[in-house]
Amino acid sequence: MDYLIEISFIFVAVSLVFLYNYYHDKNGIPTNWPIVGMLPALFLNLHNIHDYVVEVVEKTQLNFVFKGPWLANMQIFVTVDPANVHHIMSKNFGNYPKGPKFNEIFDVLGDGISNSDSPMWEYQRKMAKSFVNHSKFHENLVKKVEDKIESGLKPILDNVSNQGIEIDLQDLFGRLTFDTSCTVLIDFDPKSLSIEMPIVPSSKAFDDLEEAILYRHAMPPSIWKFQRWLSIGREKKFKQAWKNVDDFIYNCIAIKRSQKVSDQNSKNNDMGVNLFTLYTEAIEENNTQTPNIKKDDDKLLRDSLLNLVLAGRDTISVALSWFFYLLSKNARVETKLREEVEKIMSHTQDFSNNSRELCNKLVYLHASLCETLRLYPPVVFESKSPVEPDILPSGHTVSPNMQIIFSLYAMGRMKSIWGDDCHEFKPERWISEEGNIRHEPSYKFLAFNAGPRTCVGKDMAFTEMKIVAATVLRNYRIEPVDGFQGVPDISIILHMKYGFKVKVSHLR
Ligand code: HEM
Repeated sequence: MDYLIEISFIFVAVSLVFLYNYYHDKNGIPTNWPIVGMLPALFLNLHNIHDYVVEVVEKTQLNFVFKGPWLANMQIFVTVDPANVHHIMSKNFGNYPKGPKFNEIFDVLGDGISNSDSPMWEYQRKMAKSFVNHSKFHENLVKKVEDKIESGLKPILDNVSNQGIEIDLQDLFGRLTFDTSCTVLIDFDPKSLSIEMPIVPSSKAFDDLEEAILYRHAMPPSIWKFQRWLSIGREKKFKQAWKNVDDFIYNCIAIKRSQKVSDQNSKNNDMGVNLFTLYTEAIEENNTQTPNIKKDDDKLLRDSLLNLVLAGRDTISVALSWFFYLLSKNARVETKLREEVEKIMSHTQDFSNNSRELCNKLVYLHASLCETLRLYPPVVFESKSPVEPDILPSGHTVSPNMQIIFSLYAMGRMKSIWGDDCHEFKPERWISEEGNIRHEPSYKFLAFNAGPRTCVGKDMAFTEMKIVAATVLRNYRIEPVDGFQGVPDISIILHMKYGFKVKVSHLR
């Protein structure tokens, strides 16, 4: 009974797929069928949706209108056109808020930064930026990441190397970044990274939330809302995951509150300020000119912290996984990277001194990470809706009942944007003739978003990725197990579907 609606939906979809196969439009662009619209093409290609979108937008000059079933009133404008992206994300930003449709799908994020519009978004952004721009933030970040590498990552890699066993590197990086994000952002270490590889319910709950959110994007809203009302299928799982995430965050808040009471001097911790202190003081003082903020507003605190942890958790680990996967297929780049790391770090064991200078000097590593993010952007798509009808630079008219989707994955693979070699992994494209990093406008390289909502954690992400990547490159050789192929998963974050199974050996 639980999955009845999903099963009926799948049954109809399979029948449609059969019909679609029979009458398939050979030019590779979805056919708009009477009544069911383009759903058959969507279902037929769902397993390979990211590459399918690449094919379609390449054939449709970067823009494509997907028409849903007749009764569902579902129209999605898929665009990877940099001029449209620039218009929507920057030039006419005010007309493209997150809006009620996005808020509904991402309801679990509450009033946090990723799910709010002005004035709440302005408040959240100001708070998040004041935290990551704090004078001691960078120093604290480097210390926490280095500590986790020494106490967690290296012992596990040493162990699997000594025993000659396989490990899922994506899982390992996921644990590393979950622990570091929580430690740096909310000053709480869930200790998911240890040799026992424990199952951590809060981390699993985040995975379940991401899966259900993607499902909500693909389903007509009436169906997932009906399932939510009945608490069945994926919506039942979503509800449980939401509860687990709440338990985790509220527990952190309770611990922090009790620490604050026992240590009134909490401002003087090793960082000088932490995110919890920053938010609680702003909420308690209510001096932020933001409406509807109450004293002891734990719900707002929960929303604020959850959004930051979620934003910083999987993005970094997924980027690192694809980075090492691409290196395993590009020995030339790997050799150059090892040479650069050895040269720049020849006089030091780690990043604890001069971390900024070391990170800045690792130019080829920076270029290789950008190239990874171009081909495998961790946030795989962006969704928008206009408040007022608008005409885009491509000449398409969009209206408030339409959803606009940018496929970041497809954007990095367009010949007209990146050239004929766009499918190759070539860090050199990011390096200028003078040997510096070549700047690409964010509406072309959208991995960190563009315009006023550009990612707040970009510097944090590069610092963490460089420290982890350089440490692994200096000490270990990573080889995928025989026959391994990295397959992008269908999720809002671009995980590898079957993890990243590797063998590890010591370099020295
Ligand atoms: C490789 C790593 C990362 C990538 C590729 C990335 C990418 C992105 C993207 C695409 C968005 C826009 C999402 C949307 O609006 O739907 C975003 C927003 C955001 N990111 Fe990141 N991110 C990364 C790491 C981080 C980290 C470590 C943090 C830690 C604080 C962070 C904090 C944020 C925040 C707060 C926003 C919301 C900005 C706003 O709406 O004003 N990100 N990021």
